[in-house]
Amino acid sequence: MTLVTELENVAGLDCRWKTDLTSFSTFRMQSQGDLVIANTEKALSILLHQLQENGRTWRMLGWGANQVLAPLETDVLIQLDFVHDPDVLAYARDEYELPASIGLNVLTAHAIKFGTSGWEALTGIPASLGGAIYMNAGTALGEIGALVRSVRMMNAKGEIRDELMTANSFSYRKNHFVRPGDVILSAVLTHNGLDATLPDRIRKYQEYRRQSQPLATKNCGCVFKNAAPTRQAGRLIDLTGLKGLAVGALRVSHKHANFMENQGGASADDFVELTRLINQQMKLHWGVAFELEVKAV
Ligand code: EPU
Repeated sequence: MTLVTELENVAGLDCRWKTDLTSFSTFRMQSQGDLVIANTEKALSILLHQLQENGRTWRMLGWGANQVLAPLETDVLIQLDFVHDPDVLAYARDEYELPASIGLNVLTAHAIKFGTSGWEALTGIPASLGGAIYMNAGTALGEIGALVRSVRMMNAKGEIRDELMTANSFSYRKNHFVRPGDVILSAVLTHNGLDATLPDRIRKYQEYRRQSQPLATKNCGCVFKNAAPTRQAGRLIDLTGLKGLAVGALRVSHKHANFMENQGGASADDFVELTRLINQQMKLHWGVAFELEVKAV
């Protein structure tokens, strides 16, 4: 049997073969390929098993906020859409067990309502909890890693493991515990107490982002990692005069130089070329080449 027929009637899987993936990333890069949405852990384990049996490679798509999709994706992209118990967020508690597919915007709404200190670090990050933990997403207000107590994962064999976080579990935009083939299923988050001033700080930070970042455009967030606190990619790209530099329909934002805006119809090839041109200039002017923050195949 083919993969398509094997997975056709599995409850909890929504399979979209040879589909247009353009709308599945915030960057809206032109892309075609296979996407499967898993609604339950059982369905996910069947999916991973069948992908292995059929020799298909795969990767997690999450909210597609930090990825540059290829014109023709050969990996099967997986998205989780697990149900979550709304009661968990109905009031402030010490610990929250949350599914990987929950959006950080939902957690920010909780923080605004109850003042869960530390959660301000999640403000405005367009990601699912699992994707954010995977890359230790963060802002100037902190990183998600500092809030995670434990993470539950499934490996490619469908085996589940719980990992308690330690001081070494995360570093800048990296985790050090997800093994190749692991999928983050859920996590336990904590906070640093309740703080009545938190909602105001979150709102001020939201305003700062609205003013400094091109939030209404088709983008993938910051393209490059900062090289050091004094070597922020946005600042150096701006100082070099590269705002507005374009390859095809992709251009360096006039609002924030570490953002690229897809003006419609851009592809991963444009992205590769534009990042190459920028790093060429960075080496020339500053002696530094920035590492990509966004995942590009
Ligand atoms: N700057 C410029 N020109 C620009 C952009 C920035 O001169 O075009 C200057 C700013 O004036 C500021 C400095 O560069 O002095 C840093 O800029 P910003 O405050 O915007 O912070 P950032 O280091 O560029 C980081 C995160 C963002 C996050 C912001 C705000 C990284 C790579 N980026 O940006 O995260 O939203 O802080 O908290 O760590 C992301 O990860 O996708 C992302 C957007």
